[in-house]
Amino acid sequence: MRTASFHSRSSNSNGNHPVSSFSLSLLFLLLASVSASGTVPKAMSKPATGNFDRGPVIPTTPLVTFLEHVQETALATFGQKDFDPKLYVDLSLKSNLSTTVTAFHKLPRNATGSVSIPDFKEFMHEYFDGAGNDLVYAEPPDFVPEPDGFLPKVKNPQVRAWALEVHALWKNLSRRVSCSVSERPEFHTLLPLPGPVVIPGSRFREVYYWDSYWVIRGLLASKMYKTAKAIVTNLIYLIDTYGYVLNGARAYYTNRSQPPLLSAMVYDIYNRTGDLDLVKKALPALLKEHQFWNSGIHKVNVQDNRGRNHTLSRYYAMWNKPRPESSTTDKVHASKLLNASEKEQFYRELASVAESGWDFSTRWMRNTSDFTTLAITSILPVDLNIFILKMELDIVSMAQIVGDNKTVESFLKSAQARKEAIDSVFWNEENGQWLDYWISNGTGSQECQRWKASNQNNNAFASNFVPIWIDLFNSDTCIVEKVRKSFQSSGLLGAAGIATSLTRSEEQWDFPNGWAPLQHMIVEGLGKSGSQEAKSMAQDIAMRWINTNYVAYKETGAMHEKYNVEKCGDIGGGGEYIPQTGFGWSNGVVLAFLEEFGWPADLKIGCNGVLL
Ligand SMILES: *[C@@H]1O[C@H](CO)[C@@H](O)[C@H](O)[C@H]1NC(C)=O
Ligand SMILES: *[C@@H]1O[C@H](CO)[C@@H](O)[C@H](O)[C@H]1NC(C)=O
Ligand SMILES: *[C@@H]1O[C@H](CO)[C@@H](O)[C@H](O)[C@H]1NC(C)=O
Ligand SMILES: *[C@@H]1O[C@H](CO)[C@@H](O)[C@H](O)[C@H]1NC(C)=O
Ligand SMILES: *[C@@H]1O[C@H](CO)[C@@H](O)[C@H](O)[C@H]1NC(C)=O
Ligand SMILES: *[C@@H]1O[C@H](CO)[C@@H](O)[C@H](O)[C@H]1NC(C)=O
Ligand SMILES: *[C@@H]1O[C@H](CO)[C@@H](O)[C@H](O)[C@H]1NC(C)=O
Ligand SMILES: *[C@@H]1O[C@H](CO)[C@@H](O)[C@H](O)[C@H]1NC(C)=O
Ligand SMILES: *[C@@H]1O[C@H](CO)[C@@H](O)[C@H](O)[C@H]1NC(C)=O
Ligand SMILES: *[C@@H]1O[C@H](CO)[C@@H](O)[C@H](O)[C@H]1NC(C)=O
Repeated sequence: MRTASFHSRSSNSNGNHPVSSFSLSLLFLLLASVSASGTVPKAMSKPATGNFDRGPVIPTTPLVTFLEHVQETALATFGQKDFDPKLYVDLSLKSNLSTTVTAFHKLPRNATGSVSIPDFKEFMHEYFDGAGNDLVYAEPPDFVPEPDGFLPKVKNPQVRAWALEVHALWKNLSRRVSCSVSERPEFHTLLPLPGPVVIPGSRFREVYYWDSYWVIRGLLASKMYKTAKAIVTNLIYLIDTYGYVLNGARAYYTNRSQPPLLSAMVYDIYNRTGDLDLVKKALPALLKEHQFWNSGIHKVNVQDNRGRNHTLSRYYAMWNKPRPESSTTDKVHASKLLNASEKEQFYRELASVAESGWDFSTRWMRNTSDFTTLAITSILPVDLNIFILKMELDIVSMAQIVGDNKTVESFLKSAQARKEAIDSVFWNEENGQWLDYWISNGTGSQECQRWKASNQNNNAFASNFVPIWIDLFNSDTCIVEKVRKSFQSSGLLGAAGIATSLTRSEEQWDFPNGWAPLQHMIVEGLGKSGSQEAKSMAQDIAMRWINTNYVAYKETGAMHEKYNVEKCGDIGGGGEYIPQTGFGWSNGVVLAFLEEFGWPADLKIGCNGVLL
């Protein structure tokens, strides 16, 4: 196989300008042509049952286990109202664990396990530091109120003033792990990290994996390159320590990851800064991460209609107990299941859905009105495999930069194989979409199953369009046209952005909620394509999203985790916790959109100009 070409441009001495451009045009030639399945999939079939609870589970740390007991007692004591189970596993100890456990057991309890509120409050105060106290404020070293060259295309003064307020939120969300954590790690569920962090906000007090990609996109628009690199350094540290990037930097997140976007972070930072050292440092970590997603229980084989074997990846948490941060809630759901092995499998599904980032959604349910039918480990997800394909292509580019020809060659092969797998297993020519694929219950990584059209999930999800985000697909004009038309008529595009699905379920990752990352990937993909219609569609969606973020900000004083795409200015709801503000990826996507599309001086902002 030949390698892709790579052109160098000379660098500007301050290092803040592109130094080289990745050209994958040869690769496109090699990998071109989508082989369509050409069949109309029917409703999902029921594959055979198997031995479905695989993968070892070892107990979590004694501190996490203890804090789960505290969480249960807190629920019994305070009741359901405003109860957030995560708060209790985020506490840190003031004295050692055995002293604390002894005091906890001495608390007088009544028959329901509850403690009197004053007794419990006193115990909490005496033995714990507040949640989040071990993450301390850190002034970002590269923050200035108005960076040079900030959003040059934003001309409207009102929009500009708001963008600067959103930019200033990076200060609110900057933290570093307190020294107390490395002094007494056994007192904390927070994990030590080498660099400062940017958190999503509110109950998400620690660093998260996939959120960080859009945080970084915003930081790049804010010209905060040091802060962006520090985030990547932390994630590389997690790979060095655990073999993969954890869901988040907490002891109770050590048994699952999140959508793998580290390569995209490094690629984009390199694009802006030309920092070769970062690429050199990241490459070995990315190779390790690639291994994590392409081995063991994450790996699944499927044989297509033409007898060709493909390997794709799935989400699969190494966990079959309640998620510590939602332990009380998970147990209530599991109580509907009859026996221990069904409960274990359900707990694994819950943790694996958390690994997908889409927690929770009818996308992962066999019966969309029965939460206990979550079955993500029996699904090959489109977006996960696109992220891994992008990882492979990014590794090719980075290996070219550092002159590692062997890695270039082997990852070109991996990328080509995954492109073929995506074309054969996910692409649906009739729909003009890539569809998730149901595999049999309890599929191990050695088995190979036959592809069936009826196993494609025909429901519309925003993730069915995520492939357009990567250049390999958005540079293909035929595909872009098909996908644009399909998207236009999918019903997903609402007044205020792209809905996550068409099912109104009360879950967060369903209708009518819209999430910043999904808006961003689809808009960026359409915008990068050669099609004028796709480009204007991208701009239109970006404008709707900016308007709704703006109006909600003016009304509530905050950026939100998710929005209701049915109505401009409405925030999202549903799910297992109250809606959160802050908010890392929403801020990042607004800044990235304003950077790309700008805002003309004479264009009103607001819902149909009502606000101006
Ligand atoms: C950075 O990305 C832009 C947009 O995709 C591209 O045109 C440019 O060539 C890239 N620069 C580098 C250094 O890769
Ligand atoms: C797969 O396993 C789940 C959980 O045990 C079960 O409810 C479902 O019926 C199984 N599906 C098939 C097709 O056997
Ligand atoms: C869970 O994570 C911990 C910490 O990394 C690790 O020691 C343990 O082996 C993991 N459990 C499984 C089942 O992989
Ligand atoms: C915990 O602290 C108590 C009181 O300070 C001390 O007596 C005990 O030895 C400590 N236990 C451990 C395991 O460090
Ligand atoms: C236990 O305490 C809770 C709250 O403190 C109270 O609502 C409940 O009635 C008590 N139950 C019993 C059996 O005393
Ligand atoms: C950000 O921090 C500043 C200063 O602490 C505070 O005044 C402001 O309310 C914060 N903004 C938000 C949206 O949290
Ligand atoms: C595909 O995998 C099956 C089962 O592992 C094997 O029997 C078959 O030979 C493979 N086909 C090809 C073309 O490699
Ligand atoms: C648990 O229930 C499932 C489905 O009802 C059944 O197939 C399985 O044998 C049961 N396992 C045990 C240990 O009873
Ligand atoms: C789906 O779940 C609902 C609620 O539990 C139940 O009423 C319905 O019968 C289920 N549908 C199927 C096809 O099993
Ligand atoms: C790697 O490939 C490039 C481009 O094909 C070539 O110029 C270079 O000599 C190769 N390096 C090594 C170490 O083989």
